[in-house]
Amino acid sequence: MKIIVTGASGLLGEEIADRFEEKGHEVIRLKGRGQLDLREVEPVMSFVEKCNPDVIVHTAAIKDVDEAERHPQETFVTNTVATRNVALAAEKTEAKMVYISTDAVFDGEKGMYHEYDETGPINVYGFSKLAGEREVRALCKRHFIVRTGLLFGLKGKPDNNMVLKLMKRWQNGEVVEAGIDQRCSNTYTLDLAEAIVTMALTDYYGTYHVCNEGRASRYEFYTALCTGAGFSEEQVKGVKASTIKFARRHKNSSMTSLLFERTFGYALENWEDAVERFMVEYKSKKEEL
Ligand SMILES: NC(=O)c1ccc[n+]([C@@H]2O[C@H](COP(=O)([O-])OP(=O)(O)OC[C@H]3O[C@@H](n4cnc5c(N)ncnc54)[C@H](OP(=O)(O)O)[C@@H]3O)[C@@H](O)[C@H]2O)c1
Repeated sequence: MKIIVTGASGLLGEEIADRFEEKGHEVIRLKGRGQLDLREVEPVMSFVEKCNPDVIVHTAAIKDVDEAERHPQETFVTNTVATRNVALAAEKTEAKMVYISTDAVFDGEKGMYHEYDETGPINVYGFSKLAGEREVRALCKRHFIVRTGLLFGLKGKPDNNMVLKLMKRWQNGEVVEAGIDQRCSNTYTLDLAEAIVTMALTDYYGTYHVCNEGRASRYEFYTALCTGAGFSEEQVKGVKASTIKFARRHKNSSMTSLLFERTFGYALENWEDAVERFMVEYKSKKEEL
């Protein structure tokens, strides 16, 4: 199959592109605005028509929640209008579209949200991604909407990779503050990318929650990474999220899936086991990073 991956220089996009290529598919990597700015409809349409892909996996977005809050218009243009452009192009070429969405479409009060729970974003990032979901549903028949939680992995630009930045700070002896009152379903990009490859080969369209199982506070998650890499747990300090963040954060945006396992026959591992596997990958590649 021929696959276009948008955001292919990013944390998730690069992982997805690698996984498709590993399975023998032809991958066209759109690495960012410098190559093709997805905010303009005409260039997107003519590029996609020229490639005539079977699948478009759309990961490109502004993901920084505080940046989104400071620049709402720019965020809607990138997260919603660009998604609309990709959906229009996918429909025109009869390609399947996979849109990566987020737990931030929920209000974060209840936790363990499933696919049929009501959405209700509380910040600009969440509103812009939910509006992107609506464009995809309205404009592209063959779509998968994949909602996921806080991602960890080794890909993307190192200076924009949360885990690599944390490792550097711990190496320098710093103590890192992390929210004790902010829970979600942390997810290994490798597991998510494999799930997306599996999904995209089917025609079981719809909206899926795809996360490693369980939930953790940011503090618990950072502590697992910090101690897993051999640093002292005292290098993570639990604080209230509101003291270190600008945009409103979710108390508990953890998710569960009613659909993924029942449709594709397996569930993603627990997040703690996924962190252990991630640490093996990290340690084996540490010197090259
Ligand atoms: N990271 C998380 O914890 C997380 C959690 C839940 C959901 N998600 C979702 O997962 C997806 C991937 O996130 P990520 O962490 O991989 O993001 P990332 O590492 O920040 O990568 C974003 C990518 O989008 C590209 N991009 C941004 N604006 C663009 C534009 N106008 N035209 C073309 N390309 C553009 C960037 O390239 P340039 O900067 O060079 O343009 C980059 O390649 C996003 O949709 C995000 O909402 C992420």
